Amino acid sequence: MQASRKDSANTAQKDFDREDWASAYQNVQFELTNQSLQVSKGVIPSDLCGTLYRNGPGQMERDGQWIHHPFDGDGMIVAVNFKNGKAFMTNRFVRTKAWEEEQQSGKFLYRGVFGTQKPGGFFANAFDIRLKNIANTNVIRLGNDLLALWEAAGPHALDPCTLETRGLSTLNGVLEKEEAFSAHPRFDPGHHGYPMMVTFGVKTGPTSTIRLMEFATQGEKIGQLLSDRKDNFSGFAFLHDFAITPNWAVFLQNSISFNPIPFILGKKGAAQCLSSKPSEQSKLWIIPRESGQFKGKEAKTFNAPPGFVFHHLNAWEEGEEIVLDSIYYADFPSIGPEQDFRLINFDLIPEGQLKRCRINISNNTMRTEVISKQCCEFAMVNPSLVGMKASYGWMATSECKQGNGPLQAIKKIDFNTGKELLWSAAPKGFLGEPLMVKSQLAKSEDDGWVIVLVWNSVRRATDLVILNAKTLILQATIEMPIGVPYGLHGSWIKS
Ligand code: CO
Repeated sequence: MQASRKDSANTAQKDFDREDWASAYQNVQFELTNQSLQVSKGVIPSDLCGTLYRNGPGQMERDGQWIHHPFDGDGMIVAVNFKNGKAFMTNRFVRTKAWEEEQQSGKFLYRGVFGTQKPGGFFANAFDIRLKNIANTNVIRLGNDLLALWEAAGPHALDPCTLETRGLSTLNGVLEKEEAFSAHPRFDPGHHGYPMMVTFGVKTGPTSTIRLMEFATQGEKIGQLLSDRKDNFSGFAFLHDFAITPNWAVFLQNSISFNPIPFILGKKGAAQCLSSKPSEQSKLWIIPRESGQFKGKEAKTFNAPPGFVFHHLNAWEEGEEIVLDSIYYADFPSIGPEQDFRLINFDLIPEGQLKRCRINISNNTMRTEVISKQCCEFAMVNPSLVGMKASYGWMATSECKQGNGPLQAIKKIDFNTGKELLWSAAPKGFLGEPLMVKSQLAKSEDDGWVIVLVWNSVRRATDLVILNAKTLILQATIEMPIGVPYGLHGSWIKS
């Protein structure tokens, strides 16, 4: 048993107890329908009208067996609808084939990509290379469907009101059954006159193919595919996220290798077979958008800054440059076969830092600067500035200023002045991805709210916190009657 951070000698920050943090990891016991939520502090703004959708792991354990990594937990969707200053919550597990089967049997029947094994040891796990589509990474709206996304396989369609699972979707034949479909679409706010969703799928091996797709998100063609292209790049690809500008889709290909043997032999999950190759050059793969001015032109490859990237904040074009803001880790953080994720020592895992990379696409040069050294994740700009230069970013950060720690605070950065604002839930609160929701009456870029789910380790349940996006002053705390484990991504749909 490792010492909790509180007792750890090698750190100056004593702002959390690891057991408080780990207490969020529990099975979601109840599925609620349109349950009215209590406001414990403040007031819900009356002009906040819409629905917050969040996805994340909801099943942590079956028959006494814990999943090996939270990313292996079955997707559970939370929807909180805001209307006339009141909030109503619905939550449902995504009825994937595997979840239904495992509910029936009461045991894990599939291996997880991040190391969860079936009961029964070597003989039960070796040579079982089936992928369990757990639909747990993001939830977005496309046409009449809500889509629960998991990047290695196809999307599950859900009813946006009831969260009932309609089934695995091919998006009206756009995708092959269970074709890889990213969990990180980007919503172009209207670079070419109308909004659209830009997304991708990756097939990887010695050569990797990126399929880049654009879908209509309003008008007569809503939900339909507008453009589709495929580009091949040499080398194995691990691409979780990407960024867009009006003319480009930008991918950062981490220098990473994949050795599938331990996976095939049942010793490791597929993602545990990834290892970073810090000595090798990461690449930027930059693909013209078919809606942009370089339609049909070839993709470009550039050298990328060192480090491992899961998530980008935003990108934009500035003269000959593409500017890309991303969260960099010194190495790929993995949880080995013998480790328990609830006992991780944050001090031993690299922290994410926000950096800006300027890529000159005409003379093939690049320069990088650190925007913020403080550990952060899940950053975003005002949604109407995706792909454009923004003045502000909002993100989740650790309470500690140096090194790694759990996400306990929300930070707003003014990129023009470097000024930072912070709202903290420490020491007893822990949080995930914040969403910046712009006010429908907005006069400036930062008019709106930041909405985030906070694990309240005193109450042992989840609070929904609304902050003023401009000031980060608390607007309202709303109590959920259940605990929701730390989730992954989500979206806001205004009504
Ligand atoms: Co992500």
